[in-house]
Amino acid sequence: MSSSILVTGGAGYIGSHTVLQLLLGGYKAVVVDNLDNSSEIAVKRVQELAGEHGSNLSFHKIDLRDKPALEKLFASEKFDAVIHFAGLKAVGESVQKPLMYYDNNLIGTIVLLEVMAAHGCKNQLFMVGRRWYHAQRNPISATNPYGRTKLFIEEICRDIYQSDSTWKIILLRYFNPVGAHPSGYIGEDPRGIPNNLMPFVQQVAVGRRPALTVFGTDYGTKDGTGVRDYIHVVDLADGHIAAVNKLADPSVGCEVYNLGTGKGTSVLEMVAAFEKASGKKIPLVTAGRRPGDAEIVYASTDKAERELNWKAKYGVDEMCRDQWNWASKNPYGYEAPESTN
Ligand code: WQD
Repeated sequence: MSSSILVTGGAGYIGSHTVLQLLLGGYKAVVVDNLDNSSEIAVKRVQELAGEHGSNLSFHKIDLRDKPALEKLFASEKFDAVIHFAGLKAVGESVQKPLMYYDNNLIGTIVLLEVMAAHGCKNQLFMVGRRWYHAQRNPISATNPYGRTKLFIEEICRDIYQSDSTWKIILLRYFNPVGAHPSGYIGEDPRGIPNNLMPFVQQVAVGRRPALTVFGTDYGTKDGTGVRDYIHVVDLADGHIAAVNKLADPSVGCEVYNLGTGKGTSVLEMVAAFEKASGKKIPLVTAGRRPGDAEIVYASTDKAERELNWKAKYGVDEMCRDQWNWASKNPYGYEAPESTN
């Protein structure tokens, strides 16, 4: 009987790509998602892409803060591990709406952990997102409420492990997911106005937005714009599969791994790479720095490469090639044009 993995937020961008890799890897995947920032169509498309493995996928529309619903699911099915993606993740939005981020990200995670413990499911992968670190050392800071929720989640997990070492927890810190499955059949489709760079760029390229606003051109970087560690979403999904496999290692307790490329790319460099991949000109408007933004962020990934036997394969050109393939085939994402916003 193949292992059964619960994937929270599995209808989302990273979640859907990870669910597909789980299915193709022979796992059974159970997706829970409240669909606040995702579409059930993504789940259906993952099922199609999975071919014969598609029958190993099931979906439940559940908000993690709905404890009775989550209890009912755990009572109906034994999970070998949980991959926890569900949460809000826009830096700029979190500065404007901190309580919404603390409620969604922290309460949802705490309820999940409580229900897992009650049902003896103590194998856990957490997407704890990115923070500003030196190498793999302890987190040094978070510059916005979104980052702070991830920092708090990481500390909650450490405390749980300290209280009960039968837990096996892997914390995955990653950076800026970009791109799409090479089929172009699944990809990033945020609701409303995109907060993140590349979904906004893709919407400019297909004519849904007139121009990209560049937040800050006075950073101490090569061209004055923010630098990030962009990683192909399929590389990221494969990193999660490597981490699920690592949970079988008896020596695992509560471990942290960075999933990145170790390279930094600026906003203007990403725009140029996307223009090359798409053949489209992206008009730019410059503006001041966005509250909560950091100047330069990229990852040290040697521990993941060593202990997870995982290394990112794709570079920025492939990310932009696949992002454009998705956007050009799905200019309005998963929803029909009449529901555009
Ligand atoms: C990147 C750069 C902006 C939009 C991400 C996400 C999420 C998380 C990692 C894991 C910055 C600039 C952006 C725009 C711009 N994943 N930008 N115009 O802020 O690094 O946050 O962290 O946790 O993927 O939360 O990503 O894409 O919002 O910004 O100039 O319209 O692009 O200033 O320099 P960020 P982002």
